[in-house]
Amino acid sequence: MRVLITVASRHGATAEIGSAIGRVLTEAGHQVVESAPEEVTSLDDVDVVVLGSAVYTAHWLPAAREFARQWQDELLARRVWVFSSGLATQPAASANSPHELLALRERVGALGHRSFAGRLQRSELAFAERALIAGARAKEGDHRDFEAVAAWARDIAGQLAVVREQTVA
Ligand SMILES: Cc1cc2nc3c(=O)[nH]c(=O)nc-3n(C[C@H](O)[C@H](O)[C@H](O)COP(=O)(O)O)c2cc1C
Repeated sequence: MRVLITVASRHGATAEIGSAIGRVLTEAGHQVVESAPEEVTSLDDVDVVVLGSAVYTAHWLPAAREFARQWQDELLARRVWVFSSGLATQPAASANSPHELLALRERVGALGHRSFAGRLQRSELAFAERALIAGARAKEGDHRDFEAVAAWARDIAGQLAVVREQTVA
């Protein structure tokens, strides 16, 4: 199937999670294209969309939210999975889940959502970002768990394999 991986990322950590998902789906025999949300001009040649965003101040980045809004009708007609990546850990599952997530999932008819731990490198942050994060308990470092990412991608591949079998049968 033709898969679009589209990820909103400010410092690249979430984009790399998207690429890791893309590699697993490519290995599973799918045609994968990666494109930034604001660069997508059509979903005509796409069967499956994986939409992700880094979480900043408890929200998805505007580019990912705008993508979901702009392409809502097309997304509802396709198989869509969404993921978030952030560093909030208090409490683990809900804190790095953006506020608008439920509405967003419904808007695009997402079949699933996962939150993955992200990466924080204070040296690469803009001044305003450093000020914002100063009071937070977020720990510096790369907390991404690429095995968990690959496992989720394999799960998606498994679900797509079922669809493929049903289409052929
Ligand atoms: C200014 C700032 C605000 C953040 N706010 C949140 C937040 O509200 N929730 C969260 O889980 N992570 C938050 N994070 C952590 C980022 O989501 C994390 O660093 C992520 O991996 C960055 O991804 P990116 O490199 O793709 O931009 C914040 C980070 C910064 C620098």
